[in-house]
Amino acid sequence: MTHHTRHAALLLFCLLCACGGGGGTASSGTGAAAMSTPAAPTPPAPAPTLAEVGDRLFDETSLSASGKLACASCHVEARGHADAVGVFLPLGGLDGTHQGLRSSPSARYLDTAGAFGFDAQGRPRGGLFWDGRANSRTEQARGPLFNPDEMANADIPALAARLRALPYAADLRTAAGLPAAATDAQLVDAAVTALARYQADDAKFHPFTSKFDAVQDGSATFTAQEQRGLNLFNDPQRGNCASCHDSRPAPGQARALFTNFSYHALGVPRNTSQATRDPAFFDLGLCARSDLAGRADLCGAFRTPSLRNMALTAPYFHNASFATLEDVVAFYATRDLDPARWYPVTGGQAQLFNDLPPAYRANVQQGPPFRRTGQPPALSPQDMADVVAFLNTLTDGFSTATATH
Ligand code: HEC
Ligand code: HEC
Repeated sequence: MTHHTRHAALLLFCLLCACGGGGGTASSGTGAAAMSTPAAPTPPAPAPTLAEVGDRLFDETSLSASGKLACASCHVEARGHADAVGVFLPLGGLDGTHQGLRSSPSARYLDTAGAFGFDAQGRPRGGLFWDGRANSRTEQARGPLFNPDEMANADIPALAARLRALPYAADLRTAAGLPAAATDAQLVDAAVTALARYQADDAKFHPFTSKFDAVQDGSATFTAQEQRGLNLFNDPQRGNCASCHDSRPAPGQARALFTNFSYHALGVPRNTSQATRDPAFFDLGLCARSDLAGRADLCGAFRTPSLRNMALTAPYFHNASFATLEDVVAFYATRDLDPARWYPVTGGQAQLFNDLPPAYRANVQQGPPFRRTGQPPALSPQDMADVVAFLNTLTDGFSTATATH
């Protein structure tokens, strides 16, 4: 619900009061005198801000070619702003039946992802999307709006026409400071800016209200199991999760984001539910970007996601190949020790890293928590349960729930 509609409803309610229809209430004053007083001029409704218009646009199905898909269809608030329940890989497009290639990530906790680039050691960092190809939220929002597998607008004039047809088109123009005669390109710019502003400004996209945050603030304590899980998560020889999914705030930040926005090839198994997928097609991640073609060393690498709200955002990994957190953690612990559990076996051999062409399998991440055959697993079954218990403390809503109950 928007501020604007609430305001209109209130206004209507007050007009009805002014007619005196109810009659006889204590507040109706002294009859004739009250009636002869001219109604106070109604203050004009405050113009909605760009972020408020962005809030409406995020839920706006009429911006899609099918008329059925909004940003919020694939980034569901109740699911940590990630995939809707039951959606394995997102469906979209003109007829709402095209299956996308990648899992819908959470739209939360992206404020400090920064532009894509290489750090002093030459390692890729930052950017939005699994392959970091968008340097900002405004750039990002153009992706789904024009992606034929998603909201499927044919071009800028097509989207501008949809924006002009919105009942609140004038609010968008006013909030963006555009004249009534705004061009197609100006309107589309205003819409993506509004969407970006909404995600940047609204606390829903960075609430920091998990149990983990409450423990950091001293207002809650971990169970013994959750604390063991955090210790394993941090231990460089065991889970080693924190080496990529930082459990401490980055310099200058107040809160941990559980990602350092780094890129790695984990060699996750192929998602066999994608029956319609060309068997010769591989999603190569970073090196599939036109600007990184030729960087064979980056093939198979995807951006490390935040682990906040992981309990709500299944399925997991860029190709949605895992349904549960238990399996994700077990994959980390046993990928190389028990490959037949994760990869198809042909001729007695597990087809390791089968979602990458053989030429790029050497890019796959080694080192803890991954172990070579012959080494003991980094995590025992009890350890894995402890790590999952810890991951479950990263769900937003814990501290707000305790505050209001
Ligand atoms: C059909 C489902 C679908 C729709 C509709 C959709 N998205 Fe997404 N969104 C995805 C997928 C899938 C990805 C990852 C794509 C990739 O990495 O190549 C994504 C990625 C993102 C990201 C980057 C997340 C990250 O971790 O870097 C943001 C932010 C986002 N979407 C916001 C939006 C906005 C805003 C809209 C509406 C304009 C929108 N999405 C519409 C499925 C969708
Ligand atoms: C070397 C860096 C690295 C380490 C170590 C690491 N991760 Fe990850 N993690 C990633 C990357 C990169 C991805 C995305 C890979 C992909 O989708 O192909 C990921 C994905 C995930 C996901 C799925 C996220 C989603 O949105 O789908 C979970 C859950 C996860 N990791 C948990 C863990 C846990 C628990 C550990 C420790 C046992 C761990 N990770 C260790 C880099 C790492």
